[in-house]
Amino acid sequence: MDNNRDTAADPLPQTGLPATEVPGTGLLGTEPSETDLPVTEAAQLLPVAELHLHIEGTLQPELIFELAERNGITLPYSGLEELRGLYEFSDLQSFLNLYYANMAVLQTEQDFADMTSAYLARAAAAGVRHAEIMMDPQAHLSRGVSLETCVNGVVSALATSQEDFGISTLLIAAFLRDLSEESALEVLDGLLAMNAPIAAIGLDSAEVGNPPAKFERLFAKAREAGLRLTAHAGEEGPPSYIIDALDILGVERIDHGIRCMEDPELVERLVADRIPLTVCPLSNVRLRAVDTLADHPLPAMLAAGLNVSVNSDDPAYFGGYVDDNFSQLKAVFDLSDFDRARLAANSIHSSFASEERKAELLDELNAG
Ligand code: ADE
Ligand code: ZN
Repeated sequence: MDNNRDTAADPLPQTGLPATEVPGTGLLGTEPSETDLPVTEAAQLLPVAELHLHIEGTLQPELIFELAERNGITLPYSGLEELRGLYEFSDLQSFLNLYYANMAVLQTEQDFADMTSAYLARAAAAGVRHAEIMMDPQAHLSRGVSLETCVNGVVSALATSQEDFGISTLLIAAFLRDLSEESALEVLDGLLAMNAPIAAIGLDSAEVGNPPAKFERLFAKAREAGLRLTAHAGEEGPPSYIIDALDILGVERIDHGIRCMEDPELVERLVADRIPLTVCPLSNVRLRAVDTLADHPLPAMLAAGLNVSVNSDDPAYFGGYVDDNFSQLKAVFDLSDFDRARLAANSIHSSFASEERKAELLDELNAG
């Protein structure tokens, strides 16, 4: 893994190109041309960067039961079938309730390491070549699990991700927006004091009623510490939360952001500034942000020239990893090879990886 702190304060490169151009990939221009495209029929899996992934959301039911047994924890479910039966969500909060409850099985560094390795193995099979992994330290601290245990456990698996799985990785400490800013500041202090190898901070959990302005000091402090900045906004919350995340928190990236489509002026700004939106289509369906995948705004977002990427969010809960998101999008929208390559290129450009790593990944993408 690479904490990338040396370059952390640098803004994302501004391309100065029209929004519909995808810079840095020789093969992609404003107008898609069939002859320009990589041979995606042969290579269904494009090399991508996964930018929106909660490591705790990768806990598969089987691993939940395995860790419960290892730690002598009695789960409130009789078995896998009963647990799987609960993966029917009505909104974000209904998912968060189960997501936090299942974290009870994560007790030791080894548990965090095993969860992370399992994700990396599956992500490698999905074509992920760079992953920016969010974790929720406050959700572990509140259960009596120390910062050292959760951070060191995840980091121990990330440290060898390149050798073990061919995936470069960065760690993002995400803060729970339904808790206080004081709590977040205390945890950020703890992370900085232990020199945790975090590259960025994020903001997640229950969005509506917890606007970005609540965390102005947290983001200012993280920026001063040289960390990159991202925040969930516009998943369930209104377009104004996206605007405030940009203007008040100064984030470089927006996680989800789909509700920007309700505000044409905001779309214009996001396009002009090439603000990355880490979109998670299967998550949006499962959490009822959209009715069905066919109703998802991703095609309209691409058509508007927004800088969107495709990500899995909490793949163990939402029925799929990045490859599943891509294949279901292709099935429903008949996504063109050009659009798939554009989404992959966007993910690489929008990452917090070093310029050198981005160039390597773009070369890999262009090689088809
Ligand atoms: N934490 C884990 N997944 C999340 C999501 N989709 N939105 C907000 N917080 C989350
Ligand atoms: Zn998320």
